Amino acid sequence: MDVASFDTQLQALRARAISAIATADSPAALDAIESGMLGRKGELRGLLGGIGALSAEDRPKVGAMANPVREAIESALAERRVGLESEALEARLTAEAEDMTLPGRPRWRGSLHPLRETEAEIARIFGQFGFVVVESPEVESDELNFGALNIPADHPARDLWDTIYVQPAEGAERDDRLLLRTHTSPGQIRAMRDSSPPIRVLTPGRCYRYEAVDASHGFEFFQMEGLMVDEGTSMAHLRGLLDSFAHAMFGAHRATRFRPGYYPFTEPSVAFDIGCVVCEGAGCPACKRTGWMTILGAGMVHPVVLRNGGIDPERYQGFAFGMGTDRIAMLRYAITDIRAFLANDMRFLERL
Ligand code: PHE
Repeated sequence: MDVASFDTQLQALRARAISAIATADSPAALDAIESGMLGRKGELRGLLGGIGALSAEDRPKVGAMANPVREAIESALAERRVGLESEALEARLTAEAEDMTLPGRPRWRGSLHPLRETEAEIARIFGQFGFVVVESPEVESDELNFGALNIPADHPARDLWDTIYVQPAEGAERDDRLLLRTHTSPGQIRAMRDSSPPIRVLTPGRCYRYEAVDASHGFEFFQMEGLMVDEGTSMAHLRGLLDSFAHAMFGAHRATRFRPGYYPFTEPSVAFDIGCVVCEGAGCPACKRTGWMTILGAGMVHPVVLRNGGIDPERYQGFAFGMGTDRIAMLRYAITDIRAFLANDMRFLERL
């Protein structure tokens, strides 16, 4: 072979490489071309392996002819690599294109259950007077639900609460019977035993009674208990606090009144009424034509109950109140059937 035929073969090799590169359709194909042409066992080396047959004078000439061929192949490879990358990117952009002009999917927004929302609002209002929320168990002892609240066993006052008892443990004494709390008032005893005056607590939660269920009675319902114990606490404080609550919850113009009531654990006891939220006091079926609606029971904590809570009634006084959270929520949202709260009907929950 002479220099001229090396040149012919080098040009041929270059032409083959360039056209193979032009049609290569993947980085792997380019890698294969690169090693086939330029690798240690590639065609270019193979060709130059024959250089030994040339004269010492011609060898560098062939070497000098080979360099531009290698460089041309290398730059074609590099260029095609970049080309393939942008083709791949283009293909992805087309394949994954989104139509930004399409309308979005509506988002589902959750909301608080009306009872939770009402609880939070009650807590917010009393929170401004320094009351803090504390939890109290739903499964309660007979002693805390009744006994400590001045309702002795077999006392007729128990008839005010239709009680759901829990199956007693083997050999249980009558006094440590368990029940589903019939009201949140046992929270009063727990708060008094767990802390010391001044006490200002709210105990929210689920209560249970053995009830004939109808639009205004659930066997499972919610209450919010309030308790304040301090020196010099009076009925006037209770009245002022409840007025502020009624005005914040049902409007600043809302009329309020105390009526005498009876609870074994408060003395004196009252029912707290607000002007009917439906007829504003004129008289309608919702208020049984009285113009008033009772929203809670309250009173001054009975000295016996204070003592049962470990508090000296000679030094401290207190008041307590208990409201039906369901009832408050029904008045706020004009809900007519208490059963709707726990029926889990999405139409009811979304309406509010
Ligand atoms: N616990 C009473 C009830 O369930 C309400 C109440 C609470 C009354 C606190 C007075 C004081 O009816």
